[in-house]
Amino acid sequence: MSRYYVTTPIYYVNDDPHIGHAYTTLACDALARFMRLDGRDVRFLTGTDEHGQKVEKAAAEKGIDPQSFTDEISKNFRRLADVMNFSYDDFIRTTEPRHIDSCQAIWKAIASKQSPLRQDNIYLGKYAGWYAVRDEAFYTEGELEEGPGGKKIAPSGAEVEWVEEPSYFFRLSDWQDALLKFYADNPDFIAPASRRNEVVSFVEGGLNDLSISRTTFSWGVPVPDDEDHIMYVWLDALTNYITAVGHPDSDADLWQYWPANLHMVGKDILRFHTVYWPAFLMAAGIEPPKRVFAHGWWTNEGQKISKSVGNVIDPFELVEKYGLDPVRYFLLRQVPFGNDGDFSHQAMVHRLNGDLANDLGNLCQRVMSMVFRNCDGKIPESHSLNATDEQFVTAISDSLDDLRALMEAQAFHQALELIWRHVADANRYVDEQAPWELRKSDPPRMETVLYTLAEGIRNIAILASPFMPDSMDKVFETLGVGEAERGFDRLGPAHALTSGTPMPGKPQPIFPRFVEEDDG
Ligand code: MSP
Repeated sequence: MSRYYVTTPIYYVNDDPHIGHAYTTLACDALARFMRLDGRDVRFLTGTDEHGQKVEKAAAEKGIDPQSFTDEISKNFRRLADVMNFSYDDFIRTTEPRHIDSCQAIWKAIASKQSPLRQDNIYLGKYAGWYAVRDEAFYTEGELEEGPGGKKIAPSGAEVEWVEEPSYFFRLSDWQDALLKFYADNPDFIAPASRRNEVVSFVEGGLNDLSISRTTFSWGVPVPDDEDHIMYVWLDALTNYITAVGHPDSDADLWQYWPANLHMVGKDILRFHTVYWPAFLMAAGIEPPKRVFAHGWWTNEGQKISKSVGNVIDPFELVEKYGLDPVRYFLLRQVPFGNDGDFSHQAMVHRLNGDLANDLGNLCQRVMSMVFRNCDGKIPESHSLNATDEQFVTAISDSLDDLRALMEAQAFHQALELIWRHVADANRYVDEQAPWELRKSDPPRMETVLYTLAEGIRNIAILASPFMPDSMDKVFETLGVGEAERGFDRLGPAHALTSGTPMPGKPQPIFPRFVEEDDG
């Protein structure tokens, strides 16, 4: 069975989960579910990034020791994963012993080997330069801008501070050609294409050696054989992706999942994943991941989301207000994946009442109610299907190859568009065949039409379930489709519904319309 290993970034525990966290993990969840239904052996990893100055500071501000602080906040991310119905296989925390061992092992592996220019990969020096705690990133003078009050600001908007301390350096500058060759040999490594060009020109511009240890605080993984230093939090954090599949034990069964098929990240952390990470791995003698996809950022009603503005979108509140599957649908349907997008109440309600309540919800409710009322609460006989009936259903099952290609490209919005074309076809078929008119005039034909529709809905539900698993499970239950019969291998006429299967009860609407509260 072919393996599929997909990862989310691990989230900083300095703060509560927000829409950005929900979005990145949701995209991975839809992929993981899709690949599982497609028969692949999936490993889906998420977790929390718990070391570093930013987390240490946040704990100190609360007057709590960093370990207890991270224990608490990490739970909120697990809760988010549960509330959003994320099907992760492993949740890693960088404070776990397995991860500390793995970080020290990668450090030693890098240090024990030479760079392509035959120099030590790691050397001791002194860092004197700018650091942004918010980004946990080093910046050169040339990258900074003048902010309010003459303060220096990183391109991300984060404030920087001057840092001077002894530090170990990774000889990143020696890895420039190896990286450029890797990008050229692996044209799909960085997606979307515009991001790829951005990274390639950055590396072509030349690379500075990277400071990979700190000495002025202590919340991190100790550098092997030098207890004055802790490892730079990004080297620590990136290593989570291999820790979780058994590193440094290359005999571990889990190690079969490496290299990862996909690291999903936001655009702000692309450089860490496509420059530093493959360089660290190559230096340690480990194969880089196959692909990194950088998605865009959400704004809120047109405004940049920021804590100081107070317009942070709380994913728990969204789910409470609109329902889980409508939120999952909206986030992946509204914006071409990779672009920035705007969250607005109006757009959310428009999708919910349109695509979901009207198009898919009504289709299911109309058809299932007619079956329930007119066919004795059982899946009707199919009698003889004509060419129109057959084509209507096979068009749905035959689209799996196209859908798979879209998912492999992380084009979620197009995948959903494709499924919704089937929904539109189904609604057209209902109107054209008008089964309600056949009830008296031609009951066997009415049964055939309703059977065909139920079968169309079954196929649509299989394709849509990675995006909206709970709602599609309700559809399967109404149709009497068992849990083991919901994979992609059940698509198409060979596994069609069995006539006479009883429906468990009166069908209930799956997507109720959103009605504005009357505040007047
Ligand atoms: N800890 C690092 C990642 C280490 S991975 C080895 C980190 N953590 S984070 O908590 O700040 O991460 C956040 C993820 O949320 C990033 O992928 C980021 O792009 C995403 N988002 C943060 N705000 C966002 C929006 N407003 N919209 C969409 N995604 C956003 O970075």
